[in-house]
Amino acid sequence: MNDRLIHLRNDRVSYAMNLLEGGIPMHLYFGARVESLNPVAMLRHNDLPLDGSFGLNGCPLDHTPHEYPSFGLGEMREGALTVRAQDGTRTCDLRFVSADIIDGKPGLEGLPATFGDNAKTLRLTLRDELLKLDVTLSYTIFDDVDAVIRSAKLTNTGDAALYIERAYSLCLDLPDSRYDLITLSGAWSREREMIRRPLTPGEQGVSSLRGATSLQTSNFLALARPEATEAQGEVIGAALVYSGNFTAKVHVDSHRSGRVMLGVNDVDFEWTLEPGVSFQTPEAVTVYSVEGLDGMSRQFHRICAEHLVRGKYAHAPRPILLNNWEATYFNFNEEKLLAIAKTAAEAGVELFVLDDGWFGHRDSDNSSLGDWKTDLNKLPAGLGSLVEKVHALGLKFGLWFEPEMVSPDSDLYRAHPDWCIHVEGRPRVENRNQLILDLSRTDVQDYVYQAVADVLAENAIDYVKWDMNRNFATVGSAKLPADRQKELPHRYMLGLYAVLEKLVNRFPEVLFESCASGGGRFDMGMLHYMPQTWCSDNTDALTRCRIQYATSLIFPPFAMGSHVSAVPNHQTGRVTPIDTRGNVAMSGCFGYELDLNRLPADDLEAVKRQIARVKTIRQTLLYGDFHRLLSPFDGNDTAWITVSPDKTEAVLMVTRAQAQSYTFAPLIRLRGLDPAKTYTVAETGESYSGSELMNAGVAVPLPWGDAASVSWTLRAQ
Ligand code: GLA
Repeated sequence: MNDRLIHLRNDRVSYAMNLLEGGIPMHLYFGARVESLNPVAMLRHNDLPLDGSFGLNGCPLDHTPHEYPSFGLGEMREGALTVRAQDGTRTCDLRFVSADIIDGKPGLEGLPATFGDNAKTLRLTLRDELLKLDVTLSYTIFDDVDAVIRSAKLTNTGDAALYIERAYSLCLDLPDSRYDLITLSGAWSREREMIRRPLTPGEQGVSSLRGATSLQTSNFLALARPEATEAQGEVIGAALVYSGNFTAKVHVDSHRSGRVMLGVNDVDFEWTLEPGVSFQTPEAVTVYSVEGLDGMSRQFHRICAEHLVRGKYAHAPRPILLNNWEATYFNFNEEKLLAIAKTAAEAGVELFVLDDGWFGHRDSDNSSLGDWKTDLNKLPAGLGSLVEKVHALGLKFGLWFEPEMVSPDSDLYRAHPDWCIHVEGRPRVENRNQLILDLSRTDVQDYVYQAVADVLAENAIDYVKWDMNRNFATVGSAKLPADRQKELPHRYMLGLYAVLEKLVNRFPEVLFESCASGGGRFDMGMLHYMPQTWCSDNTDALTRCRIQYATSLIFPPFAMGSHVSAVPNHQTGRVTPIDTRGNVAMSGCFGYELDLNRLPADDLEAVKRQIARVKTIRQTLLYGDFHRLLSPFDGNDTAWITVSPDKTEAVLMVTRAQAQSYTFAPLIRLRGLDPAKTYTVAETGESYSGSELMNAGVAVPLPWGDAASVSWTLRAQ
């Protein structure tokens, strides 16, 4: 840090800004580490006054790269911040007040956030003197990741309320826009299709107004140089540590420079900032890679593993589970469940999960959400008795909840009809026959916390599946005043995070898995509370190749719930071999979603072998370095490999979607191995040098038939 230049860096990346005359922070650089930077050269590039006489005349602001541009001063592009004053005007002029660099990474009040001691954090405070608004921008660089973590805190230092119309977490101005934009888009049961297209002038991106990150897209984008591949080339990736409405977009201006913005969606958003009060934005993670998309993903994965996921299971083996949902749906009783659990225990499963339908009188999805009391028609001896019997089989016990919801047919709704999100006088729009509890209210937060905590305290529950199966409609809160209704979506998230924080602290032994009709809230926000997320309701192995491949752009295997299910598959009708289902599912948090008693004998034997094998290699499968090798978005084959940190063990997974006659085995160049080590493939007994596997590649013969798959364990001597 000198008079004008602020330069934050670790061994591999640099982030730099320059204070222009008058104290406007100009963005200079984010990329591979540089030893020094010459701001004058950057100013010349942008045709800005070289004599430092920076002013507002002539609107040079319009082509200045900014750190945190605000609306209204001659900056014609969209900015990161819009604040309305009491007089209704929306001009904001933020100037430098102070900057300091501290050791470590402060948390964010009420929001999920990255953490870690091996970091430096820059706090840059800017002020609008007229509005009496202070904005503190926070930038963290950890020693061990090529990333900068950013957020903004707005404080009203005056004596009149201010109205925040937009406060993004990230604005990153890039000197050019020669990039492809990569985003994820999809729907229920086909989440996260990978979309890559060149940036063009104007605005482009993805967003959600659903009250959740959504099945339809993710709060993530990547900019890859057109020539960048999986293995090489420059890539910038950005993701939000948040689970609600968001926007992630890039604006390409008339000079072809690119502006990346990420934050809480400003559509359907406004926040009244009373005097003396602060507003904290969620944080955004921006990673930098010169090693292509693979390098970008490894940075994201490391952030998730070392700086985001907490608790007992953060680095621990995840229990192999069996979930009864696709085995029974709502139609079960104690006897049926125990028969499933018994065979599961014999096969080596470690955790039995009772899914939807155990409470109230829930025989279909049309009732009882909110009434978290055991259905004694189905479980006459009570939940506790079932838990004991499952424990006696040597299994842990897991339970499904959907705590954020209420069914109109429930005691909770009859007692508190105003506790759901609704607009007075309008029909309450139901989805899956349910309404959303208004978690912006503290009484509702208390109820939700207590209802779940009581069940966990009364029964020895080892695992919770926290589901959320619908999105916002008729958005209104009975508690918020008229001028604060637009705060509801963000207040809902703050309420949810508060409930989750209390629960995970009170029950540190419980493994939580988040779910939202599958992967409808697969984001870094949820991962801070729950170390794994159900990837998709689609358990078909071939569809899962696509979903897990694209999910891995951001999230590591230990975050992805993935299960073997019955065939014909319940979502696609496809029949795939048991080996393929196993190979794909074991690439994440492994489990089963079927009744093992109904499997053909050969398949049950295969299941036992899968489970025994996963127990020996799961540390590598969950926590190894994950590399994508062949993309299902480009062709017929999918391949990936996970390599243990010491590079002595690796698991290679290859799946071919459609059988083709008279074709060669795919020749695959592996990645992440030690070139100097010799690896033996446990399944074939063949040995290869790491350098051969990575440079010449290895031909992997696949079995006959559609959806054929192979999984190899490679061990170095
Ligand atoms: C959602 C989940 C499923 C299952 C059902 C139960 O769809 O994604 O895994 O739990 O709810 O109703």
